[in-house]
Amino acid sequence: MRAVDIIAKKRDGGRLSSEEIRWFVEGYVRGDIPDYQAAAWCMAVLFRGMTPEETAVLTEVMAHSGEVLDLHHIAPRVVDKHSSGGVGDKTTLVVAPLVASTGLPVAKMSGRGLGFSGGTLDKLESIPGFRVELSRDEFMAQVAEIGLVVAAQTAELVPADRRLYALRDATATVESLPLIASSIMAKKLAGGADAIVLDVKVGEGAFMRTVDEARSLAELMVEIGRHHGREITALLSDMNQPLGHAVGNALEVTEAVATLRGHGPADFTDHCLTVAAHMLLLGDRASSLEEALALAREQLASGAAWERFKAMVAHQGGAVEAVEDPGRMLPRARLVEPVTAPRAGHVAWIGARDVGLASVLLGAGREKKGDPIDHAVGIVVHKKVGDPVEAGEPLMTLHANDAGRLAAARERLERAYRLTEEPVEPLPLFHGLISTRAGLAL
Ligand code: URA
Repeated sequence: MRAVDIIAKKRDGGRLSSEEIRWFVEGYVRGDIPDYQAAAWCMAVLFRGMTPEETAVLTEVMAHSGEVLDLHHIAPRVVDKHSSGGVGDKTTLVVAPLVASTGLPVAKMSGRGLGFSGGTLDKLESIPGFRVELSRDEFMAQVAEIGLVVAAQTAELVPADRRLYALRDATATVESLPLIASSIMAKKLAGGADAIVLDVKVGEGAFMRTVDEARSLAELMVEIGRHHGREITALLSDMNQPLGHAVGNALEVTEAVATLRGHGPADFTDHCLTVAAHMLLLGDRASSLEEALALAREQLASGAAWERFKAMVAHQGGAVEAVEDPGRMLPRARLVEPVTAPRAGHVAWIGARDVGLASVLLGAGREKKGDPIDHAVGIVVHKKVGDPVEAGEPLMTLHANDAGRLAAARERLERAYRLTEEPVEPLPLFHGLISTRAGLAL
């Protein structure tokens, strides 16, 4: 086989055989196929798509490109979650410790920032000392010891996704349904969880812009999970504005800490409680959504979720004192400036994608593979859709370390709000649910 023939076949709309997909992905992981050919292949997949069968094979090959964990000797039932990527999406930082604090183990492999959307690993690395690169043995030991781990997919685990994910980020090939589905599900299958909640983002600040697209992605992933004997619930959640207020790594950790301590933004807290409740349901910790929500609220209110977060930080080498006093001890930007409302009105629209891209301009995300990022910078969004604003009131605050970057981000953000005179309804948090379990509702 030749890589160029496989690229050409997909470019021309052909259906790849299982052997071709396996040969290509395995060759890329071994280093026999260079980045430029893999990038061309990703672009061909982005334009031509894949059948559900091709996507299932790609997922399986990626999941088996490294080790596939079996956690059953550690815990009878392990749950996991994954977001398809959004702006200000720091959900894992709250939900994983919350669920683990009920005694239901959470073992999660996360990703880095991708395009305009942030990544959990980058956020966690804004905590001084925090190690996201764990060996397989460390990953397993931590599940056994504290029932909670959030780490990178190591060279041993899903190396295919590790390489493809970074390549896609730098080659504008993220927004492909089969590439997103296989990337997420390969990590989920290799991570060893029995039950998985997928947070499928939809809207302006997500890779899936419409509810129909998001539903197709969710259905594809739920089917892949079902085929592999996993229980999966996919929540379609709104991403037409940043989640919570903070966008940018240390800023988001600060907001997650506030939420874990019971004073986070209402929309973000409700989002986390719903995701956590669905994990508790699939993990058989509760028999109804009401019961699961009550349990999730109790874990936040009692401080149990916060304690478990600190235990994770300590186990992964992070400075616990930094998360105890994030405003002072996490990285902070030198330049802090507001973007103000030009007139009074009601917020009718926020360009969530512009907010994400502006945070990349500030240095919170990567423009190309391997770029360093600045953990301190980002944006705090003060006004959300439906909020009334007065002329001159801050709509957002920019946190920057470079005046040129700040000016570029400001220019983008000044176009990222639309105000109307008439009152506007707030946006919903969720748009639907698809599950392998019958009878589940939001
Ligand atoms: N999250 C992932 O893990 N992979 C993608 O491709 C997109 C979001």
